[in-house]
Formats: sequence, structure tokens, C-alpha cells
Amino acid sequence: MSTALKIDVVTIFPQMLNGFLQESMMKRAAVAGLVEFNAINLRGCATEKHNTTDDRPFGGGPGMVMKPEPMFAAVESVRTPESRVVLMTPQGNTFKQSDARRLADECSHLIFICGHYEGVDERIRETLVDEEISIGDYVLTNGVLPATVVIDAVVRLRPGVLGGGETATEEESFSSGLLEYPQYTRPPEFRGMKVPEILFTGDHGKIAEWRKEQAVNRTAERRSDLLENAQENSENNP
Ligand SMILES: C[S@@+](CC[C@H](N)C(=O)[O-])C[C@H]1O[C@@H](n2cnc3c(N)ncnc32)[C@H](O)[C@@H]1O
Repeated sequence: MSTALKIDVVTIFPQMLNGFLQESMMKRAAVAGLVEFNAINLRGCATEKHNTTDDRPFGGGPGMVMKPEPMFAAVESVRTPESRVVLMTPQGNTFKQSDARRLADECSHLIFICGHYEGVDERIRETLVDEEISIGDYVLTNGVLPATVVIDAVVRLRPGVLGGGETATEEESFSSGLLEYPQYTRPPEFRGMKVPEILFTGDHGKIAEWRKEQAVNRTAERRSDLLENAQENSENNP
């Protein structure tokens, strides 16, 4: 897939996105034409005076709920049959590397809905959204930070974004079902701590074997659940 990935982010805090989009890989990807970012200010889509985007919950209770009319207007202003609409919510499926890979490979247009206050009116979730994503079992004040987490993980997997000299994403933690092996750089000795000899041998076969062993040991120590899943997958798909 070589066309630019289009990403729209619907939020009442479009400025929160700027720092993230104007630095490092995201900026480079946009400048290179690999991704097109667009922040949609939800307040500009409000239909009532005072640009209201939230209201009190029916049935009572604390906080405010984001109204459906501005959200539908915002999403429908950019949605096409190719779009995938993602609601950021702590109630969604927990985001994983496999989701980043799927969205990077399969999508040409992502629309992120960022909630605030108590979240969004349930009718938005029911009828406007293709997928609900959580970035973990904790609650943040609004959806911009979670959306940027997902955007970063997806965009770096798009062809050309990391470039040749950057990381090999297939060997990274979670991509192969394992955590990555330990990495070292210069100097060869620092405060008495030496880099493992094997890495200086130039024997790429042996180095690859050592790294695989390290990755398996590290995963077993820290995330035995990943090893169990990998084993289950290989038994189910021999
Ligand atoms: C304060 S939270 C709303 C939480 C909601 N009342 C609940 O209990 O499920 C406000 C917004 O922040 C975003 N958000 C907060 N935590 C999140 C998480 N772990 N993953 C994804 N989005 C999150 C969502 O967009 C959410 O609508």
C-alpha cells in the first residue's frame, strides 16, 4: 500500500495534537506525504448557539456527556466508504501490536473520536463507530492522548515511515510474539560492564541464535503469557 494514510481526529482540543504531530517521525511522515493528518474541532460542528458539544446526562448523575449532533456532523463531514471510525474509550478492546499492524495494513482512512467528560452519548458508540479501542485499564481525562498512542503505533508501521536505517519492526517486542533481545552500543565496556563477546564475533548466524535465545528467556521471565499464546497459536495453526 503506497498511498498516504489519511487520519482525522475529532476532538474539542485540537491544539493538544499539535506538539505530537509537529515533531519526530509523525512530522517526517507527513512531510514525506506518507500520512495526512487533520484535526477536526468538534466545537466548529456544534449546531446550537454557544457551540455546545456536551450536556447533562439523562437520569441524573455527575459530569457531562458529549452530544450526538456535533459528533455525527464532524464524522460525516469526512467519512467515505473506505473510512474506519475508531472510538477511543476505556471500555474498548485493549490495543495491541497486532491491532497496530492490522490498521496499518488494512486502512487508508482512520477517523478517531476523542471523548471528554463522562464520555460520548451511547448512540454515537452504537451507530457511528466501527471499532472501540482502549489503551489500558485506567481512565484519562480525554481521548487525545490515547488517540496519539494508537496513531504513533500505526503510522510507524506504514511503508517508508521508519526508513532503512531505523528499527526492523519484525524483530521488535510483540511483533514476533516475543519481547525483543537486549541491545548494546558503544562503548564496549562501561563502568566495568562488558558487552557480550558474541556481538563482536561478526558471525551473524551465531548472533541471531543468541538473540533468539535471549528473547525467549526474557519473554519467559517477564511475560510468560506471550509464550503461552505463541505456543497455542502454533498448535492451532501448525
Ligand atoms: C474520563 S473518560 C470517560 C470514562 C467513562 N466515563 C467510563 O467510565 O468509561 C473521557 C474520555 O477519555 C478517553 N479515554 C480515557 N481513558 C481511556 C483509555 N484508557 N483508553 C482510551 N480512551 C480513553 C475516552 O475518549 C473517554 O471518552
